[in-house]
Amino acid sequence: PIYFQARFLTSAPDLRRMPQDLGREVAFAGRSNVGKSSAINTLTNQKSLARTSKTPGRTQLINVFPVTENAALVDLPGYGYAKVPAAVRRRWDQVLPEYLAGRDALRGVVLVMDLRHPLTEFDRQMLDWCTHIGVPVHVLLTKADKFKQGAARNRGQNVGRQLQAEWPGVTWQIFSASKRMGVDEAHARLDEWLGL
Ligand code: GTP
Ligand code: MG
Repeated sequence: PIYFQARFLTSAPDLRRMPQDLGREVAFAGRSNVGKSSAINTLTNQKSLARTSKTPGRTQLINVFPVTENAALVDLPGYGYAKVPAAVRRRWDQVLPEYLAGRDALRGVVLVMDLRHPLTEFDRQMLDWCTHIGVPVHVLLTKADKFKQGAARNRGQNVGRQLQAEWPGVTWQIFSASKRMGVDEAHARLDEWLGL
């Protein structure tokens, strides 16, 4: 898969300081510590392309990972983590919507949720925003390795039904970064958005 050749380009604190339009971008968003950076590492088959951590709040900048000359994956800081300083949180409340609404290259959002605790208030807000601005969303229900296979599938289907009912058009899948579950399916979605 072409995603294996992804590399790190740069980190930016906000939209204005991002590199010029790279053509097409897919951004990974979701609650803090949910596994966004780990998902990027698994999809690119690299151990530490995106920095991960046991403690929430690891990713604090917009990290850009070009896959080809005109297609990139973008790792966003997590939202909803209570312990970051209020100033950081306030800044993020601006930067995130600004990026989502203002980035011409953005073709889709991979919204990462923990299969054990999906659809938090923040996730709902993200789904509403993305719907409002017309950016398509693919939900990765990650950490599926925490369940037995059948249970993970059932749980995924339940969450999927809720998603479809409230946000028609949203696609979803179960995923595990540690067990490499759902990698091909996620690549297929990225291919579509990035034109790869
Ligand atoms: P922030 O950058 O802080 O917002 O976090 P993040 O969403 O990028 O999460 P990150 O990838 O850093 O992972 C957070 C923790 O979850 C780490 O301890 C990971 O090892 C763990 N984790 C991530 N994906 C999985 C998974 O699929 N299964 C399991 N069991 N653990 C995972
Ligand atoms: Mg991260």
